[in-house]
Amino acid sequence: MCGIVGYVGREEAAPILLDGLARLEYRGYDSAGIAVYSARDGLQVAKAKGRLQVLSDKIHGGADVRGRIGLGHTRWATHGEPSDVNAHPQLSESGRFAVIHNGIIENYVEIKEFLQEQGVSFVSQTDTEVVAHLLDYYYKDDMMDAVVKVLHRIEGAYAFGIVCADCPDRLIAARKDSPLIIGYGQGFNFLASDVTAVIKYTREVSYLDDGDIAVLTADKVEIYDSLLLPQNKARHTVDWEVSAAEKGGYEHFMAKEIMEQPEAFRKTISPRIQNGRVVLDDLEIGADDLREMDKIYIIACGSSYHVGVVAKYTLEKLLRKPVEVALASEFRYCDPIVSPKTLCIVISQSGETIDTLAAMREAKRLGARVLSIVNVVGSTIARESDDVLYTWAGPEIAVATTKAYSTQLAVIYLIGLYFADQLDAIDEETYRSVLEELQRLPDKMEKVLEQKEKIQYYASRYFNHESIFFIGRNVDYAVGLEGSLKLKEISYIHSEAYAAGELKHGTISLIEPGALVVALAGYRGLFEKLMSNVVEVKSRGADVLGVTTDSLGAEMEKTVDAAVTVPDTLDMLLPSLEVLPMQLLAYYIALMRGCDIDKPRNLAKSVTVE
Ligand code: AGP
Repeated sequence: MCGIVGYVGREEAAPILLDGLARLEYRGYDSAGIAVYSARDGLQVAKAKGRLQVLSDKIHGGADVRGRIGLGHTRWATHGEPSDVNAHPQLSESGRFAVIHNGIIENYVEIKEFLQEQGVSFVSQTDTEVVAHLLDYYYKDDMMDAVVKVLHRIEGAYAFGIVCADCPDRLIAARKDSPLIIGYGQGFNFLASDVTAVIKYTREVSYLDDGDIAVLTADKVEIYDSLLLPQNKARHTVDWEVSAAEKGGYEHFMAKEIMEQPEAFRKTISPRIQNGRVVLDDLEIGADDLREMDKIYIIACGSSYHVGVVAKYTLEKLLRKPVEVALASEFRYCDPIVSPKTLCIVISQSGETIDTLAAMREAKRLGARVLSIVNVVGSTIARESDDVLYTWAGPEIAVATTKAYSTQLAVIYLIGLYFADQLDAIDEETYRSVLEELQRLPDKMEKVLEQKEKIQYYASRYFNHESIFFIGRNVDYAVGLEGSLKLKEISYIHSEAYAAGELKHGTISLIEPGALVVALAGYRGLFEKLMSNVVEVKSRGADVLGVTTDSLGAEMEKTVDAAVTVPDTLDMLLPSLEVLPMQLLAYYIALMRGCDIDKPRNLAKSVTVE
């Protein structure tokens, strides 16, 4: 969704804002803009539809808009088409206020009508413009007073950056349900939608909470809560390097992040395995709580949901407790059966996905205990859950997730073993064999990634297909869901994933000569059954690309047109290996189709509107 950055300091603001926006490009956007103030030129605004480069060219890298305070924004359109006029910053009619916004103002129609009755003219179709005009309406020589009145009047979700030409030494930031951070420097300060925008300049940040309002000058940041009581906000030091958010020689972030997975997996599991046991010191949930718990609900969206599908199979097998997995956007509105005996596991890379956050809040309201699995430290979901286990994947920039998915799986395996141990649901031998195999997985992941040329070759054979089906059973099916999503996200090829046994119940009617079916058949106990499904699609003319383990490869190759094998492992751990060829296949197919891999059309990295 929209990216936000604001700077106040002693340097020229525009180049810093453009640099910050470039680092936020990964969030997905369709237009960009900046507002910069100087005593000589007043409030200057430059906006452009399209890539940030268009804006940068328009203002000669920022040289045309001089000033040491300003705001920048990348817009992901919700209200009004992508256009120069709908891009942010939005200006008030007097030209006094410039506003950038991430979120949705739900009562903007009513406010717009009210303002129009007062004679205000609107130039854009955005919900944000009402905020700029409303600031004018309430402004009586006190910027803070006007901001507070506006915040009381509007409903919805927001992260705002506001600058006022009458108070040109300060920026105001305000948040509700959309992420916003403060970055602290020596002689400068930042507001931003995430740390990526400011990490080049400072590692010291605070995470604003809902209702917070911050006033930033070059030398000071004051933060107030919704009652305007001053807050002593904790400051955190970001512990990753700027280079972690750069491509490091790869053509795309996605390629880099795919190759980083073995190491990210290692980093996620290693500190949590000590003396042959899984140690989750960061968890407060104890053995008694676990024994009381009668059900686990897993809540997530997109790829995180697909990890949840794997988790259902894995946790039910290890714990013998019922596990339900729900799409966050459905959970909220399905009157879920949740009680204090329910453990909700919430999975989110960003920790800001609005559907997941809202579902989590609903689960908490119903009394559930919430354990979240999150990548972004200090994100809202992490802060609001009872327990959090971080996936230490480092910053994930490509919109299509890869290393976050893999490290989420790693945490699920750790949780499975840890809970099973606490519940006495696992015998020592099984515990040990799963744990040892878990520790071997990063090396095996490296082996799979060594086959990238082979997968690139298969991509060259299949990149022209207009429809690709993924089939599998049990965890193979869960991996098929993720493989299919990866493919459609970045290559725009139509794709479906099916539990292979379901084919005969309808989908097989879509199989015709030339259709490509990716058959995942690593799950040893279901290999024969899956191969029967392969024969069914082959006899209807499909091309089949099979994925299985090394020991089953020769058998599979007798039937399929092409095959990829992954090292043998325990069935429950297969997704960590099988997902890698799925990611590579999607990547190379998208590359051959000339797609914008890191920033696929219409998608945003962090979905902060419902
Ligand atoms: C995955 O490639 C997608 N970008 C998307 O499905 C993503 O997994 C989903 O939006 C959930 O995001 P989250 O993990 O940050 O909550």
